Amino acid sequence: MKADPAPLPKIVVLASGSGTNLQALIEATRERDFPGEIIAVGCNRPGAFALERAAQANIPTFVIDHTKSDSREAFDASLMAELHRHNPDVIVLAGFMRILTPDFVRAFRGRMLNIHPSLLPAYTGLNTHKRVLEAGDKVHGVSIHFVTEELDGGPVIAQSEIRVNDDDTPESLAERVQQQEHLLYPIVLRWFCEGRIQLAADGVQFDGSLLPSPMRLSDS
Ligand code: GRF
Repeated sequence: MKADPAPLPKIVVLASGSGTNLQALIEATRERDFPGEIIAVGCNRPGAFALERAAQANIPTFVIDHTKSDSREAFDASLMAELHRHNPDVIVLAGFMRILTPDFVRAFRGRMLNIHPSLLPAYTGLNTHKRVLEAGDKVHGVSIHFVTEELDGGPVIAQSEIRVNDDDTPESLAERVQQQEHLLYPIVLRWFCEGRIQLAADGVQFDGSLLPSPMRLSDS
């Protein structure tokens, strides 16, 4: 008799907006050999299009409206309760525009990934494309990192670069960065689900060795 296959790692995606990264992850995880399953999508905005994308893919959703919470702690407690109900192996922040409390982050240490539209450690925070143009940078990109207590400051797993052209605008950069995001996030999530990447005390381990620098994809 054949043994039952091992259960797939359970993924919960948290999003706040249009959910194009969520869509890329839904499509990737639908591939027959993908080693993980999106079991729920959570959102802090009731009208976010990400919820619609999840519903179209028959993925259960939950909403915790941050405007209804009295404090950041109260919001995070509600989110934590919902996540415990789903008991995910990994939480994927995909355009989730909430700063999480340190207690929350610690509770999911090593099991929470985030995507950020810059080549971290450069340009943490908001308006990255505009700031890259103002600085005259020639290279820009996206980073995927483990979430730690420091905002956009956790160890970086992988990055993808784009060249900045003279005629670029924040919008054109956003578009090209997003194309890279949609390629990179499924790759990194696959690595995580295969057990190839881990958060270590001193950085990111890949296949058991400390990464000297983030893994790189490049469009050039
Ligand atoms: C992405 O650009 C991501 O880097 C940032 O928020 C955006 C989310 O876009 N954190 P979407 O909702 O996935 O379309």
